[in-house]
Amino acid sequence: MFFMKVSPALAAGCTMVVKPAEQTPLSALYYAYLSKLAGIPDGVINVVTGYGPTAGAAICSHMDIDKVSFTGSTEVGRLVMQAAAMSNLKPVSLELGGKSPFMVFDDADVDTATDLALLSTMHNKGELCVAGSRVFVQEGIYDEFVKKLAEKAKTRVVGDPFDPAVRQGPQVDKTQFERVLSYIEHGKREGATLLTGGKPCGERGYYIEPTIFTDVKDDMTIAKEEIFGPVMSLLKFKTIEEVITRANATKYGLAAGIVTNDLNIANTVSRSIRAGVIWINCYFAFDRDCPYGGYKMSGFGRDLGMDALDKYLHVKSVATPIYNSPWL
Ligand SMILES: *[C@@H]1O[C@H](CO)[C@@H](O)[C@H](O)[C@H]1NC(C)=O
Repeated sequence: MFFMKVSPALAAGCTMVVKPAEQTPLSALYYAYLSKLAGIPDGVINVVTGYGPTAGAAICSHMDIDKVSFTGSTEVGRLVMQAAAMSNLKPVSLELGGKSPFMVFDDADVDTATDLALLSTMHNKGELCVAGSRVFVQEGIYDEFVKKLAEKAKTRVVGDPFDPAVRQGPQVDKTQFERVLSYIEHGKREGATLLTGGKPCGERGYYIEPTIFTDVKDDMTIAKEEIFGPVMSLLKFKTIEEVITRANATKYGLAAGIVTNDLNIANTVSRSIRAGVIWINCYFAFDRDCPYGGYKMSGFGRDLGMDALDKYLHVKSVATPIYNSPWL
């Protein structure tokens, strides 16, 4: 995240103030220290730690800051834009929430599909704006997919992230831990069935079992809202047209995953879904050259690639008559 934002700003010749999330300030401070060692002059990359309503708000409403690039929730994205509008009209780019669909078609290899589904939802304990947590599975492969997915989910080791055998660490803080558990309760209350997990684990700390729900309906809270935790919803579908409509029927549009060996399906679905990044037979395939950002209420503007550089540049037209010009 730090480099995704800092590199294009630096390449465009800007100085900057980086405000990391209050839960995770240490890596940003360490990178700022490394930048100093690398010879970046003092005052170019500045890190200000703190909370959104104070440090974040001060940046967004500052009269001498020319641009804000924000990654966070849709709710806070609105405040960022509002503060920019009410101060110096600085342009903003927003990379906000998501509830991305991950679609598995009948012809997919079940092993690959289950591995990718777990990666897309459980990676980084599900604290990912691009998490593909709405997993649509075509009916012909559904039973086999669910069986294999449950087996694999149960073997994922949850615990101390410094232990190399561990696949999933704790949620970032108590608030997030409780939020995720309350979504799990919502899922149960609204009639979804727990396939795996559903409970905290370990003696202490904010650990949550890899949780998978079946019998999820499109209008359930767990299928609509961003959970930001290790919680997957499984949804069954019949036809390509059906999954396109259901997968796209969301206020978000950050990412989408497709697992198929059929090029026509891959092309049709990737063109039809409104999302900024579509991964076919892979997930989290980020690259510094590949623009990344959202459609709809997942925000606007792109990180990475040439589009990221454009955010930090201005266009200027300069006109002057040339000596002896016939237009003079
Ligand atoms: C996708 O959703 C948008 C609204 O968010 C809608 O305008 C568009 O027609 C939808 N596309 C498909 C293929 O359903």
